[in-house]
Parts: sequence; structure tokens; C-alpha cells
Amino acid sequence: MMDKIPVWIDTDPGVDDALAILAALKEERLEIAGISAVAGNAELKHTYRNARNILAFAHREDIPVYAGSAKPLFRELITAPSAHGNDGLCGAVLPESTVPHTEMCAFDALYTCAKKYAGELRLAAVGPLTNIALAFKKYPDLPGLLKEILIMGGAAEKGNITPCAEFNVYVDPHAAEAVFRCGKIVKMFGLDVTTKAYLTEEDCAELSEGTTGFARFFRDSTQNIIRLKETMKNYELCMHDACPLVYLVHPEFFEGEECTVHVETEGRITLGKTVTDLWSDQSFHEPHNAKVMLGVDREKFTEYLKRKFAEY
Ligand code: RIB
Ligand code: CA
Repeated sequence: MMDKIPVWIDTDPGVDDALAILAALKEERLEIAGISAVAGNAELKHTYRNARNILAFAHREDIPVYAGSAKPLFRELITAPSAHGNDGLCGAVLPESTVPHTEMCAFDALYTCAKKYAGELRLAAVGPLTNIALAFKKYPDLPGLLKEILIMGGAAEKGNITPCAEFNVYVDPHAAEAVFRCGKIVKMFGLDVTTKAYLTEEDCAELSEGTTGFARFFRDSTQNIIRLKETMKNYELCMHDACPLVYLVHPEFFEGEECTVHVETEGRITLGKTVTDLWSDQSFHEPHNAKVMLGVDREKFTEYLKRKFAEY
């Protein structure tokens, strides 16, 4: 009997979040111990409901879902309706979960779960890092209880919400800086690697074909993003949030470098920028706090995802 890899997913579903979770649910080597929702792509009421309904769709309502933060630590919430719709899933219909709501708040539930797994729990955070920063503040021993901390966020180069900031970090830069200061190496799946982890136009056509519930969900949920990118003559659908989860079972698909990362929390132009000392002549002269992922074998990554999606 293989040892499963326990993972907690903190998420703001969100189209790519939803697809990442649906793929992970079909990965028998992963044990999704819990899911916490955070405001980001949409307001918390939507991301929390979407997380529950994704599990209802996958017949996995055995996995507990917790509501987390409705807003960033200090900034006003910004969401991403142009890509994800106001409801977070572009109106794609999922079955309504009827599981009773969990009483515990996200960061208490995450801490309880981390203690239960006694050093084996992986944390994959694929939305703004508000819940994680609050959990680390309330429970300073939590980072040490986690086997790995993986985030989808940031970018050594590029930006997707401003010329230099990635959305998740930009929404809550203070939380991101706190997570990078937690004392444990953060595996950072930023735009440097996630923009290389994309489904092609042909992949999307293939996944949209047919009458299965998954094909319909894929078609309906991705329509905004695909249309938005077509205006930029970009026909690649980035599977940002799948990267940390696929890494857990296929680390060999990815390559990255350790370095030190700080997050700009005050800049007018550079707010939310993850500044790394990967390529500068000057380092931060601090112990490395991150492994920044830079490369992915796209073929293997997408073939893996398509195999998991085909199981619906
Ligand atoms: O920048 C991409 C990230 O922002 C992804 O996590 C996506 O879901 C959005 O939250
Ligand atoms: Ca996300």
C-alpha cells in the first residue's frame, strides 16, 4: 500500500483553481486533507461555495472545506471578474453541495490538520496568501509542522495584473511577504513557470468536446479567459494553479533555483512585485527563503492533466 501524500489546498476558485483541484482529486497518490477558501478571483462567498461545489461535482464531499479571509490583511479586495466572472467560474454550473457548513475557520482547521499529520502535511496555496499569513501569525509553530510549502504566486520576471506583479501576490502583498518570512523554504510557482504550463488551443478544443459533465464545465468555465486571451492573440490557457499540485507527484517535470525573495508592499508602481536575487550581482545577503520554479516539461505536464481530466 503506497504512502499517500497529504496536502491542504488553500484556494480562490477560480477557473484554474477548479481545474487544478479536479485533476488532483483523480490523483491516487494525493490525499487532499482539507480545502480552505480565500477571497481573490471572486469574493469569499463565491470561492467558498465554488470549492464546495467542485467537491460535489467530483463526488468527494468527504473532503472538508473551510471559509477563510474575505479580504486581504490591509488592502481593499480586488477580484478578477473579466477572467473568472463575478461568481468565480464564469457561470459554469456545478451541483450545489448539501454538506453541512464547517464551523471552524480556515486557519484553525489548517493548524489542527498539520498537527494531525505531524510533519507530513504539504500546503499548496493557489490564491492570495491571506489565510496562510494569518495562520502563521496565530500559530508560529505551523511552518515547522509542514513538510512543504508550495504557492502559485509571484514572478521573478513579468506581471499579469500590473507590469511587474502577479495577481495573487498583488491582491495581498503583505500576506505574501509574511509567508516568505516564515523561516521555511517556499516553493514559488510564479508566472516564470506557470505561463509555460499551458494548454494549447487544440488541447482546449479536445477537452471541450463531448457531452460529459467535465467537458461542459471546461467549456463553460474557460470561455472568458480564452476569449480574453484571444484579444491578445494568445491562445494558451495557463494552468497556473495545477503547477504546485502536479509538482507534488511529478517534481521531475519542473526545475527551479533557490534564492531569496522579498515582496514590495509599499511601491506605487511596483506594489506586489516579488523581488528575487536570482540574477542580480547583489544578493539580499540573507539565507535563501524560496525555490523559484523556472521551467516545466509542458508536454508531460499537459499529458498528465489530460489523463486526469479523462477520468471524469
Ligand atoms: O496569477 C494567476 C493566479 O491568479 C491564479 O492562482 C489564478 O487562479 C488567480 O488566482
Ligand atoms: Ca487561484
